Amino acid sequence: MAKMSRQIDIESEGSVIGRIFAGGSLEGVAELLADCARPLFLVYDANVGELAARLLEAVPGLRAALPVEATELKKDMTTVMDINRWLLEQGADRNALLLALGGGITTDMAGFAASVYKRGIAFAFIPTTLLSQVDAAIGGKNGVNFMSYKNMVGVIRQPEFTWLSADALESLPHKEFLGGAAEMLKTFMIEDNGWYERAVGLLGKMESEAESWDGNPETHASDGPRFGELNELIAAAAAVKAGIVGRDQFEKGERRKLNLGHTFAHAIEHISRDGEPVSHGEAVAMGIVLAAKLSEKIGMCAEGLADRVRNDFVNCGLQTSCPYTIARMAEAMGMDKKAEDGRVRFVLLRGIGDVDTCTLDVADVVKIMEK
Ligand code: GLY
Repeated sequence: MAKMSRQIDIESEGSVIGRIFAGGSLEGVAELLADCARPLFLVYDANVGELAARLLEAVPGLRAALPVEATELKKDMTTVMDINRWLLEQGADRNALLLALGGGITTDMAGFAASVYKRGIAFAFIPTTLLSQVDAAIGGKNGVNFMSYKNMVGVIRQPEFTWLSADALESLPHKEFLGGAAEMLKTFMIEDNGWYERAVGLLGKMESEAESWDGNPETHASDGPRFGELNELIAAAAAVKAGIVGRDQFEKGERRKLNLGHTFAHAIEHISRDGEPVSHGEAVAMGIVLAAKLSEKIGMCAEGLADRVRNDFVNCGLQTSCPYTIARMAEAMGMDKKAEDGRVRFVLLRGIGDVDTCTLDVADVVKIMEK
């Protein structure tokens, strides 16, 4: 029998615009789909073929499955059109539901492909990375890279549902897990309610057991003690994001807070393209620590917050020291498509669970950070 999951609705202006189910097993999604009269199709990251096979076995209504190469280089219009061509070849009509199984790249591409196929069919996500479970697969941002800009072409359109299960993370490489851990901690730094400390505690424990990461049934199997707690944290982070998205689906204000650490992170990722690549999650961890430092330097939060955050992150196994100078990052920030007259938006901290956005002159940020 599938483990029952917690339902979190994304409510906007009095309507439910999306549903999240957290804490069930991967196969549990079959129960949700049992009464679904729509023709079902699956797009999945070729790296999670085993999970796709489990899903195909569990969900008899699935008509066809398409593996995709889920890399930043392949996250483009060509792959979106490949998905559309395949849907057409499979005879998918406007009533179809496209399921996406994979990390944020897969869900972003499939969500976008579904949004334009026959002017839009329904889609739903089963994210298989921690990062996509707590962030990318929630909130309806779907799109692809275009002309070397990340996520330049896309839509905001909500999945019918997002199915979250720590079960789907069992074979996630440790490095990728840490990237998601950074986004989870970010979420609780925006809205806390005691979850930040709980997350630091659990992620710290998991990190200290990381040597036995691969295949240790006691600590990391879906029915092991850690994954039960992890499921709770994933659900809590998803609920925070669902609340924010419900209040500001189209990112006019509050949703921008989810970019905590991302102004620095995007600059780090951009620079790292010319050398040793830094992943998004790694860059976010470094970026959050830098944002805390900047908050401290401008007197927005009490002294010591940046050190506390850095220590917490290090205990959770996150890399926090940024390999680039602030001047180099500032150059990249100034070139960002969102920069206006050398001014860039930062999300800064007053404390854990209390953040705000601030537009600052990049040149001033360099001076402040170098002081
Ligand atoms: N990843 C930030 C957002 O969905 O708004």
